Amino acid sequence: MGKSKQIFICQHCSYESAKWLGKCPECRHWNTFVEEAVEKSPAGASRSRADASPQPLSRIEIGEQSERILTGISELDRVLGGGIFPASVILLAGEPGIGKSTLMLQMLLNLASRGQSVIYVSGEESLQQVKLRARRLGNATQPLLVLAETQLEDILYHLEQLRPSVAVVDSIQAVYTTELSGAPGNVSQVRECAARLFQCAKTQKFSLFLVGHVTKEGAIAGPKVLEHLVDAVVTFENTHQPYRIVRATKNRFGATNELGAFEMGNNGLVEVANLSGLFLSPECSSHTGNSAVCTYEGSRPLLVEVQALVSRSHYGTPQRTVSGFDYRRLALILAVMERYLGLDFGIHDVFVKIAGGFRIDDPALDLAVAAALYSSRQDYPLDGHTVYLGELGLGGEVRPVVHLEARLQEIQKMGFQRVVLSAHQWPPANRKNPFSLQINPVKQISGVLPPAASSGRR
Ligand code: TYD
Ligand code: MG
Repeated sequence: MGKSKQIFICQHCSYESAKWLGKCPECRHWNTFVEEAVEKSPAGASRSRADASPQPLSRIEIGEQSERILTGISELDRVLGGGIFPASVILLAGEPGIGKSTLMLQMLLNLASRGQSVIYVSGEESLQQVKLRARRLGNATQPLLVLAETQLEDILYHLEQLRPSVAVVDSIQAVYTTELSGAPGNVSQVRECAARLFQCAKTQKFSLFLVGHVTKEGAIAGPKVLEHLVDAVVTFENTHQPYRIVRATKNRFGATNELGAFEMGNNGLVEVANLSGLFLSPECSSHTGNSAVCTYEGSRPLLVEVQALVSRSHYGTPQRTVSGFDYRRLALILAVMERYLGLDFGIHDVFVKIAGGFRIDDPALDLAVAAALYSSRQDYPLDGHTVYLGELGLGGEVRPVVHLEARLQEIQKMGFQRVVLSAHQWPPANRKNPFSLQINPVKQISGVLPPAASSGRR
């Protein structure tokens, strides 16, 4: 074993420093440096290995490409890109209590019932607790192997002996190696344990899920430090209770930003197939300040409701508050509305929220946000059957959106009647409208929302 050296590592972003720092120069978090011992390789250890010689790409054999393993949970399969890619390593990250262990156990129980050899390594719960959870999920009789262990070397030993097809280590922050002196959960431990588990999965050719807690600043090394290592990162996000969204933020074997939705019930997580219905309340856009948009997440169109409230400010500096949407985009939309609709927001507090606690980065949201703001500012109820689709340019122009056809299909399916979109993408090349929707193409924001002077500015 090499000599060990003491260094200070930021527990948030793994920035290394020879001395303690109060504020991390990389991620700018405070009080995140912890002293850790790192191994220095003995001299000569880094000498090259002859077995890793360069190969011409044309001669590389892929070998037998086995099929993806279906988990039986279709929302999870979709997020993974059509099932678990064989011998891939997936990080499942989320806040404590969101349902990571429940999802993993449900998945393993399903796989076990389909005859796959699977193992659940529980670093946080005892065997009895796992059994109780499985009973709660109504599936406690499957031939699933459970190992309650936190020491890396023991876990590796069992994985090598067993050679399962899928293994789950819950959680990576609970696992430690005796080769490092730090406590489980610090950056060096998490990185080392994950790297050795990763190596084991690749050499033994099994798929491995690493469960990682995302925690508030500093306390435990976040899964951020593992993102570069693993093949896929699946995050578990909380929307409003009891719904959960699973999203792939990195996927070497599939599309990213693919979404899956679940509802946490009394007997585990239940899949939500009609995602649009989840984020769109029935009375949605007929309220003043509400509008509807069809966003596109992963390979899936999704209707959501945008809510805006513009009210007279009682503070020196008016407030701008956004939830589920980028703050800077709001500033841009407000500036465009001031300039091209003649609306003044200078003495108003502005609140914008995506209903249902959902987070959206799709630029197609701009026009719906503008419509909701306009409706609230002017006390102008929007027609409740209209969906607004379009990005706003700095010149007030309404710009095209991607995947228009899939969006229109979803809008029609959800029972809306009218769509406002960019005149640059309508009518289509063959000039036919295959939908029963009334399409209203517009060039400028003023083409859909009447400028202040003509709508009776207040
Ligand atoms: P858990 O999977 O333990 O979360 P994590 O592993 O991400 O920390 O789930 C935690 C919450 O879910 C817990 O508060 C209990 C609740 N729960 C249910 O509501 N229904 C269920 O069937 C199960 C198993 C858990
Ligand atoms: Mg857990």
